[in-house]
Amino acid sequence: MNEEMQCCVVTCEKPLDKTYWDNQYQSQMTGWDLGEVSPPIKAYINSLENKNASILIPGCGNTYETEYLLQQGFSNITVIDIAPTLVEKLQEKFANNKNIKIILGDFFEHHNKYDIIIEQTFFCALPPTLRQKYVYKMHQLLNENGLLVGLLFNRSFEKNPPFGGSKEEYEKLFKDAFIFNQFDVCNNSVAPRQNTELFIEFKKNSETIVYLYGFQGITCNGCMNTVSQKFAAIPHIVNVSMSSNYQEVLIVSDAAITLKDLQNEIAYDAKYIITKINM
Ligand SMILES: C[S@@+](CC[C@H](N)C(=O)[O-])C[C@H]1O[C@@H](n2cnc3c(N)ncnc32)[C@H](O)[C@@H]1O
Repeated sequence: MNEEMQCCVVTCEKPLDKTYWDNQYQSQMTGWDLGEVSPPIKAYINSLENKNASILIPGCGNTYETEYLLQQGFSNITVIDIAPTLVEKLQEKFANNKNIKIILGDFFEHHNKYDIIIEQTFFCALPPTLRQKYVYKMHQLLNENGLLVGLLFNRSFEKNPPFGGSKEEYEKLFKDAFIFNQFDVCNNSVAPRQNTELFIEFKKNSETIVYLYGFQGITCNGCMNTVSQKFAAIPHIVNVSMSSNYQEVLIVSDAAITLKDLQNEIAYDAKYIITKINM
């Protein structure tokens, strides 16, 4: 089995689902929790002028960002988290505050539109197989010119979660679905994360269409590269990114494409099946 195909022990033996995250909160195993809004996000919030902007914080945890946003007068904040123990606590903490909506649920099942989505150790908490789905969902949830803002780790980890990554990897993943307004190593991270985080401000690219498809039949990187190159050669397709388990493919195009266009490209091998995912 090659390195790319090695399974992630945590996610295979212990899925990173509602039960996993709830147990972390119940047993107070929350090593990621900074106890305060992270300095780069605080500085970014300070630069925002429109206090009525609709803001989503997915995988919000104790959401110190929200406390800071409320202190600064922001009035349209939504937070979502999958862990019931945590959400119950948030509901008590922010009881009767009409400027915040607290949702217990799965980010990937959430539907609405936002001006800004704040990323703070949510991406790195997800199994890497969900990265294409994350890009698709973020694009879907943002208004025109909407912004995905926050921090991504620029390092790897021996124990997961968190799952790391690199600027190069993220560039390939988000390319053309988003315009990279800011994408730099952060100079004001908290001490333990110094020089290991990238600050991002990605603007939704409203000129492109982002599709997510289910895929079956690929078992190695060689086939993944071949299939990806075939899709990338279809007129109007500007980016193709396949999930690390080869089961999802993110396609970005500058004009509408059809499932048939994609099926035609892989028709040479009957084991390949591509299907539309409805989210
Ligand atoms: C590493 S913690 C980060 C929490 C918070 N953002 C922080 O920085 O303190 C990841 C959070 O994502 C939540 N989470 C994981 N998967 C989720 C999903 N699919 N939908 C919503 N929340 C999820 C977990 O319950 C957890 O609170």
